[in-house]
Amino acid sequence: MRDPARTRGESALGEEVRTRLDENAWGRPLRTFRSTDSTNSRARTWALEGAPEGAAVLAEYQTAGRGRQGRTWTSEPGRNLLFSLVLRPGLPEERRGLVTIGAAVAVAETCAEAVGARPVGVEWPNDVLIGTRKCCGMLLESTEEALILGVGCNVNQIDFPPELADRATSLRLESARPQDRAALFVQLVDRIRDRYRTLTAEDELEDLRTSYEDRLVHLGESIRLRLSDREKWIEGTVRGLAPDGGLRLKTGDGLHVLRAGEVTTAH
Ligand code: BTN
Repeated sequence: MRDPARTRGESALGEEVRTRLDENAWGRPLRTFRSTDSTNSRARTWALEGAPEGAAVLAEYQTAGRGRQGRTWTSEPGRNLLFSLVLRPGLPEERRGLVTIGAAVAVAETCAEAVGARPVGVEWPNDVLIGTRKCCGMLLESTEEALILGVGCNVNQIDFPPELADRATSLRLESARPQDRAALFVQLVDRIRDRYRTLTAEDELEDLRTSYEDRLVHLGESIRLRLSDREKWIEGTVRGLAPDGGLRLKTGDGLHVLRAGEVTTAH
């Protein structure tokens, strides 16, 4: 049966992606939208209706894109990648934080390939930076039975709104050439799937930790982190990644493991 999104008229990007995805690749089944509220919301509804693991929702524009910590995610129509994957991990609760870590490594590695010599780093937990500017963000949300991984990647956007202009970048700006969004989508979902599949293998976790720490931008540095209760802050030196994906932070009163929060300043 044809997917309803297709019969409504699919975007050129959606058509292109379909021709490039292998039969059993993640990203299939795929729902595409020229515009939607949030691909995470669409994927969540689809997951409740029974979407299989690896199913993806891809949009050219979001009217209510969500970021971490209650922020919005804005993106110029038709220039970037906005997508969500349905995951159904058979992971114990204490390993679920690693999903976001695996995805961060996968997305950073794909971006690094796209921009050549430019330094691509990860800011805990899962912002992908090129130099000091953010290129991709990820939002992991859970339903009773599934996890929804949303990825927003600035691909071909050149101008950013004034409030983001000194903090955001895109693959196009960093590589000085237009990027092929369909090819990137296929690479991103392939790499995310490969990293995700290692999360159940004990002997692969060390490789994930070192790959992550190799790109962790503030490793060994002093940072200020805003906790999920937005009124609270903690300062300390980044010591690396904890086995469950938390951030190890050395403060004046000892070693802490943070499971949520965001870096606000580093020095
Ligand atoms: C962040 O850095 O704050 C996370 C940004 C996540 C944005 C993506 S865009 C696709 C998906 N749908 C959403 O509503 N959010 C995520």
